[in-house]
Amino acid sequence: MASTSSSSLNNLLHIHHRTLSIPKFPSILKQTQLRSSIKYQSLKVKAASDLLETVKEAITPPQDTEVDLFACPVCFEPLIRKGPPGFNLPAIYRSGFKCTKCKKSYSSKNIYLDLTVIAGAKEYVESQPSRTELFRSPLVSFLYERGWRQNFNRSGFPGPDEEFNMAQEYFKPAEGGTLIDVSCGSGLFSRKFAKSGTYSKVVALDFSENMLRQTYDFIKLDDTISNSNLALVRADVSRLPFASGSIDAVHAGAALHCWPSPSNAIAEINRILRSGGVFVGTTFLRSTSSTPAILRQFDRRFAGNYNFLIEEEIEDLVKSCGFTNYTCKVQQAFIMFSAQKP
Ligand SMILES: C[S@@+](CC[C@H](N)C(=O)[O-])C[C@H]1O[C@@H](n2cnc3c(N)ncnc32)[C@H](O)[C@@H]1O
Repeated sequence: MASTSSSSLNNLLHIHHRTLSIPKFPSILKQTQLRSSIKYQSLKVKAASDLLETVKEAITPPQDTEVDLFACPVCFEPLIRKGPPGFNLPAIYRSGFKCTKCKKSYSSKNIYLDLTVIAGAKEYVESQPSRTELFRSPLVSFLYERGWRQNFNRSGFPGPDEEFNMAQEYFKPAEGGTLIDVSCGSGLFSRKFAKSGTYSKVVALDFSENMLRQTYDFIKLDDTISNSNLALVRADVSRLPFASGSIDAVHAGAALHCWPSPSNAIAEINRILRSGGVFVGTTFLRSTSSTPAILRQFDRRFAGNYNFLIEEEIEDLVKSCGFTNYTCKVQQAFIMFSAQKP
């Protein structure tokens, strides 16, 4: 009759712990104490394998299945998440997401959670307008926070710290809620929002894979953010992966002029916001109210690839997409506007 000794079983358990390098769980300790009270001479192979099964279960990190903040970009049904609990980069990275309606699965390929409609597509590739594609380039993504963004100051942008403080003022009704930093770029503001502790969840969202990689690299440099309530998501602003009325605040810094369709994007932002939710955006104005009307038409032709608007157009657009309480601050070509979902 085969038998195993208490010490060899202990060694086996020890190897398990070391190999998987995870902390010992209290249930394992209980099993170990229990084992010492069993007379090992009579311990049969079956009993040992039962015990090993129990141990295996105990050393597997807890897996939760829950309805998630994220929704399917195809049907907007909230996704079911399976994996370690918590809204932070490591937990989300190790989780799988599934739409029970579409039966489609989503995962964190390359550090960010890919929630674009074509996530997982093998053959189909889709190109966006050049103002979107430009920011997918590795070089532009790398340079963005290393000189490119600083140039905005010449057009009247007050700089990231001041822009952040201004946005935080507008976001007061959304404190404690979920904030989506749409078109986050390299995460300049997402990091500030996450670090502020003002929001229960912050999502850094962009269409550019390389901008999201930059965001991740910057986050890694700061321990206080890497385990905070922050997620990295790839998505198109015109197809936001959240259920209708589920979000408290949306920030879109220097982004409107880069979107393929500002009206589709702002209508989509309105859809995901709850009643009373706040939208804050910044962009470059094509011209200011002091530019003579006759010159404004010329400005439009010289705007190039970007979709630069004038003050009146932005207000009209935001209100047309169903927002109220529109307000804005302008400094040269810089505009920060805010509006609320009724
Ligand atoms: C000028 S950067 C702004 C980055 C950052 N928010 C800031 O304030 O500096 C514009 C960003 O818009 C993103 N973008 C362009 N088209 C998009 C789309 N269709 N969906 C989501 N993001 C998009 C680009 O990838 C880029 O990161």
